[in-house]
Amino acid sequence: MVSFSKRVAQVEEYYFSKKLKEVNQLIAEGKPIINMGIGSPDLPPHLTVVEALYKTASLPKSHGYQNYQGIPALRKAFAEFYFKFYQASLLPQTEILPLIGSKEGIMHVSMTFLNEGDEVLIPDPGYPTYTSVAKLLGASPIYYSLKAENKWYPDFKELEKQDLSKVKIMWVNYPHMPTGAKADLHLFQKLIAFGKKYNIIIAHDNPYSFILEDNPKSIFQIEGSKEIALELNSLSKTSNMAGWRIGMLAGKAEWIQAITKVKSNMDSGMFLGIQEGAIAALALGGDWYQQLNKTYSERRKLVWDLVEKLGMSCEKDTAGMFVWAKLPEGQSSDQFVDSLLYTYHIFVTPGHVFGKAGEGYVRFSLCVHEKAIQEAINRI
Ligand SMILES: Cc1ncc(COP(=O)(O)O)c(C=O)c1O
Repeated sequence: MVSFSKRVAQVEEYYFSKKLKEVNQLIAEGKPIINMGIGSPDLPPHLTVVEALYKTASLPKSHGYQNYQGIPALRKAFAEFYFKFYQASLLPQTEILPLIGSKEGIMHVSMTFLNEGDEVLIPDPGYPTYTSVAKLLGASPIYYSLKAENKWYPDFKELEKQDLSKVKIMWVNYPHMPTGAKADLHLFQKLIAFGKKYNIIIAHDNPYSFILEDNPKSIFQIEGSKEIALELNSLSKTSNMAGWRIGMLAGKAEWIQAITKVKSNMDSGMFLGIQEGAIAALALGGDWYQQLNKTYSERRKLVWDLVEKLGMSCEKDTAGMFVWAKLPEGQSSDQFVDSLLYTYHIFVTPGHVFGKAGEGYVRFSLCVHEKAIQEAINRI
């Protein structure tokens, strides 16, 4: 028998990959499932984005391999977007690397910097991919817990009590998924100072900066941040392009060059039509985000109602496309999710998926039509 690599035993199948089989079985049985589990935008991209893809796809010369670092016009569009919305300067030739979604960037960054036995600081609760990638590479995840009473921000005093000598990367993500904690420049400043003091890369994962946030932020707004920070960004949520798979990584030239060396051995540049579509999306004005947030804001009000009807509570001054709701004391998030699924046919995500500190919470996605949220309220 051919055995699997030891690496495979380090990770479990992604929660959604397993649970959605169960949800899909219920749908196949004719159950009227309302899926509030996943943050996959249900709204379409702007028409100009689709037109750019269509126009490019219809040209005979669009179908060859593309540059490993994306076409120059795309890198320029990312740089202009960063300057326009975050007032942050990036050099398009050397400091930007387009990606097939930011998720793959987590792997490329980790492969570039981590050796077996190195340690990685990971937020708990947080995006599960930081952990699985560290484990796949034989590095050790070291969790730093985020608490509601500390605005879901890292507790630097606690962090500094630990032996940080083996830590190479600290993953951070604000607006934070799943709690919705907002980005804050003062927090970014502290993170940069922490990274410099202990020589730890501050890898900021920033896919939600525009969602339910009027003043989007980037870690590169902090002076001197490029010396120690990297930032991932994505068009998945802000431009409704999750299935297109397009995002980017930014950082100092030396690091981007090393990460490109890894990435160029794993994939090739994405389809030209997707890159042209992304350029159109990046050129959109603030009105696009305002329009998007009008919809998310209406949905969020309805989800707040639903949360209240279900006897839970949630914070309201949040950003991002989720509502993070606290269960009554002592209730398990798995039990709650299953009872909601099997009694009312509403699917939400149990908090433990995001780490130990997520137990006792559930996550509602706002990527669901208002009518469906209203229907969920009516069912309860
Ligand atoms: C915190 C966080 N980072 C990264 C990603 C991946 O996004 P992308 O579609 O750009 O790969 C997600 C997607 O859900 C996310 O929630």
